[in-house]
Amino acid sequence: MRKKIVAGNWKMNMDYPSGLSVFSEIINMVKDEVTGSQQAIVCSPYIHLSSLAQLAKSNSQVSVGAQNCHQAESGAYTGEISASQIKSVGAEYVIIGHSERRQYFGESDALLSEKTVITLKNGLTPIFCIGETLEQREGNTYFDVIKEQLTGGVFNLSADDFAKIVLAYEPVWAIGTGLTASPEQAQEIHAFIRKEIAVKYGQETADETSILYGGSCNPKNAAELFSQTDIDGGLIGGASLKSRDFVDIIKAFN
Ligand code: 13P
Repeated sequence: MRKKIVAGNWKMNMDYPSGLSVFSEIINMVKDEVTGSQQAIVCSPYIHLSSLAQLAKSNSQVSVGAQNCHQAESGAYTGEISASQIKSVGAEYVIIGHSERRQYFGESDALLSEKTVITLKNGLTPIFCIGETLEQREGNTYFDVIKEQLTGGVFNLSADDFAKIVLAYEPVWAIGTGLTASPEQAQEIHAFIRKEIAVKYGQETADETSILYGGSCNPKNAAELFSQTDIDGGLIGGASLKSRDFVDIIKAFN
């Protein structure tokens, strides 16, 4: 059975004390209220990672991740953070290829493929993001776009490595806009992604891959999205900044 996951992406929000306090609330609420085996992940800014990873030790259902890493192992890259540094503070996940990285930092599929490889090499789980823009959706090219992002970003991995990654479908037009993809729209793409994985790596690997939906997911729409056959959880932006909302989204699986 593939893992059910709700991952929060705090983006460039939360000062250090607020981050610690929100995360402590999440840990306590998950302990008291979450009955299933779903995995909660908080992808915080780098400054929080070490402290959050320490707090997360008390609850195996909550883990910590980064939002990016550099593609090199180490070296003269002023201001950058490596996968091994992220691993060394106790984080377990890294978001790779978020549309904001692709759009504002010009990250290409080839670069993202390098980042995925270094992440896996350092024993971290990449949460690899794909998704089309509004223009691509309206121009009906979105299946091609998704396939290209998969091919360029992760389909060069060995079957063993591919089996370790998590995918997130985040339509760019749904991010931070309140325009959630309908459960049918999201399911259509998730099923397509799973089919492409099956073609490349076989049905068993496809069935074991967790594919998260992201884009204006909130406590009100999460249950319907998560009940779709091929949606295995969510990657949550705005609603992950409030502990109550984030935990209610995790509870949407129940
Ligand atoms: P919102 O949930 O704020 O739309 O953001 C989604 C996202 O980008 C998560 O990575």
